[in-house]
Amino acid sequence: MSAELRFDDQVVVITGAGNGLGRAYATEFSKRGGRVIVNDIGRAETNGADQWQAELVAEEINAAGGEAVANTDSVIHGERIIESALDHFGRVDVLINNAGILRDRSFHKMDENDWRDIQSVHLDGAYAITRAAWPLMREAQYGRVLFTSSAAGLYGNFGQANYAAAKMGLIGLGRSLAIEGKSRGIKVNMIAPVAASQLTATVMPATMLEQLGADLVTPLVVCLAHKSCEESGEVFEVGGGWVTRLRWERSDPVAVSSARDGFSAEALSQEWPQLNSFTRQDHPRQVSDTFQAISELSGISLDIKPQAG
Ligand SMILES: NC(=O)c1ccc[n+]([C@@H]2O[C@H](COP(=O)([O-])OP(=O)(O)OC[C@H]3O[C@@H](n4cnc5c(N)ncnc54)[C@H](O)[C@@H]3O)[C@@H](O)[C@H]2O)c1
Repeated sequence: MSAELRFDDQVVVITGAGNGLGRAYATEFSKRGGRVIVNDIGRAETNGADQWQAELVAEEINAAGGEAVANTDSVIHGERIIESALDHFGRVDVLINNAGILRDRSFHKMDENDWRDIQSVHLDGAYAITRAAWPLMREAQYGRVLFTSSAAGLYGNFGQANYAAAKMGLIGLGRSLAIEGKSRGIKVNMIAPVAASQLTATVMPATMLEQLGADLVTPLVVCLAHKSCEESGEVFEVGGGWVTRLRWERSDPVAVSSARDGFSAEALSQEWPQLNSFTRQDHPRQVSDTFQAISELSGISLDIKPQAG
């Protein structure tokens, strides 16, 4: 049995933690010694009283002997959530971007609000809070950041063009921050979870949801948030106790002829089967891999250097 993954003296900020996955994370981190900021804008009806969900979760954690503080700001004002972490605990070690909403509608019926609401919570919200935490993590030379993507973002989904765009956007954001955070000890990863929650209750059958507890996602989140995590810039799918990592794969490149020799649509269409085959097992990881592949084929020297962070 390996040593328990502990978070003693660490401050863990979790957005959208009044319910579902975020709530499960908050409880788990507190059991492992973490001091938790439980953020959520949701209200709950308990025993006839209308209360903040974040406060209920924080109370539960504190009653069980853990340490948690509720915050009820929207992630859109992410800087306030980080301010609250600083006011109460003086630092931020782990940031879990988890808050989310759905505005499912097929694209031809989608209006400006359906689009904007989703972008502002998922993408702008994750930006706002991460931007506020980033200088603290850089200064501390330490940080763990998670972004919550979705299979809908990775693969596209009917009725979720708004959500899928935001969820894929978070992967671009996270991968870039992984590069920028590398020299400062900051690791950034993305998860695409599947779990029973109020979000999925309306779209998945109950028999399926019974087997998809949030507790079957939490172990991956704990691993990625821990100081022992070496990965950065990676995307993981997780659900029902199943965990896997994703990567890009390039098809076999077409080398019809160089541009100089008249690279044309007609010549390319002749090579279509090759363009769609994947026999070479080429897994690019960074922008320079693209430039290298082009220069190998064309003989053009394309040497780009990453900018210092
Ligand atoms: N459950 C799944 O199968 C699944 C699949 C893919 C992605 N996700 C993602 O996982 C995350 C958690 O989802 P969940 O299933 O636990 O849903 P959930 O609805 O149970 O939890 C999301 C929480 O975010 C809160 N929230 C919404 N807008 C907010 C804002 N502006 N500021 C602060 N809090 C806000 C809500 O009040 C809610 O409590 C979301 O980002 C969701 O898109 C979930």
